[in-house]
Amino acid sequence: MHQFDKTYWEDHWAPATAGQGQKLPVNPYLPAETIDLPIGTALDAGCGAGTEALWLAERGWQVTGADISATALTTAQARTADAGIAGRIEWVEADLARWQPKRQWDLVITNYAHPETGQLALYQRIASWVVPGGSLLIVGHLHGDEHRGHAHPEGATATLAEITDLFPAPNWRIETSCENTRTVHPGGRAVQLRDVIVRVHRLT
Ligand SMILES: C[S@@+](CC[C@H](N)C(=O)[O-])C[C@H]1O[C@@H](n2cnc3c(N)ncnc32)[C@H](O)[C@@H]1O
Repeated sequence: MHQFDKTYWEDHWAPATAGQGQKLPVNPYLPAETIDLPIGTALDAGCGAGTEALWLAERGWQVTGADISATALTTAQARTADAGIAGRIEWVEADLARWQPKRQWDLVITNYAHPETGQLALYQRIASWVVPGGSLLIVGHLHGDEHRGHAHPEGATATLAEITDLFPAPNWRIETSCENTRTVHPGGRAVQLRDVIVRVHRLT
């Protein structure tokens, strides 16, 4: 089985940079889960070509988009110029498994990012980058799911219970925890996604 390492992700994003990639709509959980949050600073951890990070910046958030793939970030950067919101977004090439940002954000989101180190280690790391009083939104794949051309082995997925167990009281309050199945149409082909969605509020 292949590794979800930097080489894998650079290859994954190469068609998008070459202009062959399709700009996909923002995933539906982001608008639904952030509508009531006060606008502030946000990190998209594993932002890919920037769809969700740009969506936040267009709504006034001051956004950092971080990804291991320079190829993905090149596409994201080009889309920033199109969207005319360059002052509200920065792109950072970083390995989330090793990165040590010297700051925290009001909102940290991660959508379908699955590094070599596995899901729960990723979620624990990025949770520490949320300011007390801020929020963390996790959107991930359930086991057996297939998304944007790659299948997901168990190590690239996590169950709802495994994720919510990472966020006990009194440090965290779970605001959303659910699974959902939806159909997307990349390139006109119907693909069913089985998602897990968790939003937590950091209390301390
Ligand atoms: C399936 S894509 C999802 C991209 C985007 N969030 C979306 O929903 O379209 C997973 C993303 O995670 C990034 N990624 C994987 N491992 C990473 C790591 N260790 N550090 C930073 N980003 C990583 C990949 O480069 C890729 O852009």
